[in-house]
Formats: sequence, C-alpha cells, structure tokens
Amino acid sequence: MLVLGIETTCDETAAAVIYRSSQGLGEIRSNVVLSQFAEHQLYGGVVPEIAARAHAELLDGVIRQVMDEASLNFSELDAVAAAAGPGLIGGVIVGLTTAKAIALVAAKPLIAVNHLEAHALTVRLTHRVAFPYLLLLISGGHTQLISVEDVGRYSYLGGTVDDAIGEAFDKTAKILGLPYPGGPAVERMAAAGNPKRFNLPRPMLRRPNPDFSLSGLKTAVRLEAERIAPLSDQDVADLCASFQAAIVDIIVDRLRVCSGMLRNSAWRSRALVVAGGVAANQTIRDALEAVAAETATPLVVPPPELCTDNGAMIAWAGAERLARGFVDELGASPRARWPLETTSAPA
Ligand code: KG4
Ligand code: ZN
Repeated sequence: MLVLGIETTCDETAAAVIYRSSQGLGEIRSNVVLSQFAEHQLYGGVVPEIAARAHAELLDGVIRQVMDEASLNFSELDAVAAAAGPGLIGGVIVGLTTAKAIALVAAKPLIAVNHLEAHALTVRLTHRVAFPYLLLLISGGHTQLISVEDVGRYSYLGGTVDDAIGEAFDKTAKILGLPYPGGPAVERMAAAGNPKRFNLPRPMLRRPNPDFSLSGLKTAVRLEAERIAPLSDQDVADLCASFQAAIVDIIVDRLRVCSGMLRNSAWRSRALVVAGGVAANQTIRDALEAVAAETATPLVVPPPELCTDNGAMIAWAGAERLARGFVDELGASPRARWPLETTSAPA
C-alpha cells in the first residue's frame, strides 16, 4: 500500500509517501522536512502562532513536492495519514484539515495518527523488529518509556513529571547563550568540556518507578552559570559536559529500573528501541549500547533523520494501522493532548 503522511505538530512542516508490502516491509518513496529553525531562532524556542502560520504557508508546496518525487497522483494512494496530535494545536489543525481535504476529494481513507505512535512504530519501517519492544522516546516534547506490544497496543511505563529531555537541552543552551535548537549545540560544546567539573543533581536516581524529572537539573545549570559569571568558553563547555553527564546517568538508571520491571512481565521486550531527536546524541547512544548489552537486549535506533519529526513516520504509522483495518472518520478531531496508551482502535 501507498500512504501519504503529513506532520505539523511542532516546528517541522513535513510530508512523505511510503510503501508497505503485504509482508510488512517498508520503503520511503519521498520524504521532505522543512524545519522552521530560522523563524523561531530569534525567540530561543518554538512560538506556536508563528509555527501554525508557517505550516499553512508551506504545507501545500511540501505535499506537491513529495507527490511529484514519488511520481504519484492522489488517486493512486491507498490512504492519507496526518498527525492529529499531541502537539501545538494550530499546526495540528493545519495538517489534519489538509489531509481531510485530500481524503475527501480523492475518496481515500483518512488515518488520524497519534504522533507518539508514529515515533513508536518508525523503527519497523527500517528494521525487522518484532513486538513487543521497549521504546525510549526522548524528544523536545516527550520523555517516555513505553512497552510497544502491537500496533494500537501500548503500555506507559514511565515518563517525565516536568520537562522533556530535549527541552532540558534547549533550556540549558538558552541559559548558556548557545543557539536553538540546543541539543546539537550542547553536544558540540560538551565534547571540549570537563564532565566532572560541576556536580549537578540527578533527580529521581534509584527511584523504583522509571520516571524522570529534569527541571531541577536545568535550574542547577542556571545557578552555577550565575555563580561563575561572566562565562568563558571553557566554562560553557564544562557546564555542557557536566549537564550531559547528568542526563546520561539519569537515562541509564531509569532504563535499568524499567528493564527490571519488564523482566517479570508478560511483555518481556525483544529489543530496546530509541526514538526522538535526542537519540541523535552520540554520548547518549553509547550509554544506551552499554545498558542494552547489560540486559542482553539488542538496541535498535532508527536512522537520525527518522528519529526527529518527519512525514515518513506518520505515513508508516498510517500504513501499519490501515493494514489492521483501523481507519478514521472525516470528523476526527485534532488534539493538543493525546496519551499514547489511549490510542488503540480508530481515534
Ligand atoms: O523529535 P524532535 O525532532 O522533535 C520533537 O518531537 O520534540 O526532537 C527535537 C529535540 C530538541 O529538543 C533538540 O534539542 C533535541 O531533540 N536534539 C538533541 C540532539 N539533536 C536534537 N538533543 C541532544 N543531543 C543532540 N545531538
Ligand atoms: Zn516528535
């Protein structure tokens, strides 16, 4: 089947066409992501109104480009999928309404995809990973541990009680005067820094539930930065390295707790899958390799361009749902909040 996917939940205007074979193998026919970095950089973060307006201006062109690159017209598609949430509601409305218009005109089924479900299933587009698997989703908007049991069947095991990990990277970057998005900038600076210079807190360490808390860490970075101001380049590098070391310790500890929980469950995971923009961080990837080796579970990480937000993940989740007969009404609602564990049969 051929599915068009549309992603507009945050600051990426993205669309893609993917093919899914009857054996469940995936193939990307086209995939275009327009990042609105320039629009938001001035503000050090995503401004929802600016994002919604940019999606409205850019989306038609992006869809035309992916259809052209795949050499298809709408009548040749099997379905149209769009991220219906969770996310910034203005952008979600733009993407979902556009998908509905195409579905209506071309008389194709609409699939209203949960953005988190798309992150959870992306790995199956590029790797043969069987259910169940443990997903660590670490992005700018989300930090969650999920047992992925089947398409439409997810158990929430733990997550952040305040900031997401990517958000903590972005806020740390802002405090230290580094550019947005902060993750890559912090990682670059950390490479030249001393991770032991600052003893930053590791909230939630050794707690029995695999939850995360990041806001205290971010505040600690701010207090240290204020204490030693003005900051030299070396100070910034040392703060970045110390911050990243704390994040690594937190992730490793929370994953160990989570693996322990799963060992005694019916859904003992066959793989550890990592998704979300923070999975692009090499130091974090190395630490995850070590945890996976400890628990004798293979680590599978989708390619970096599929870890960050994109249209192919929405199209793929749409295809996986379509293959199970899950389609949505044209009246499907956009949702700012949409916990993954409530995503099962059609929304
Ligand atoms: O998945 P994503 O593209 O968008 C969301 O759904 O949030 O993730 C973006 C987040 C941003 O917070 C960004 O700073 C972070 O991923 N990120 C990184 C790295 N690359 C991107 N964080 C740490 N290290 C990186 N190399
Ligand atoms: Zn995302």
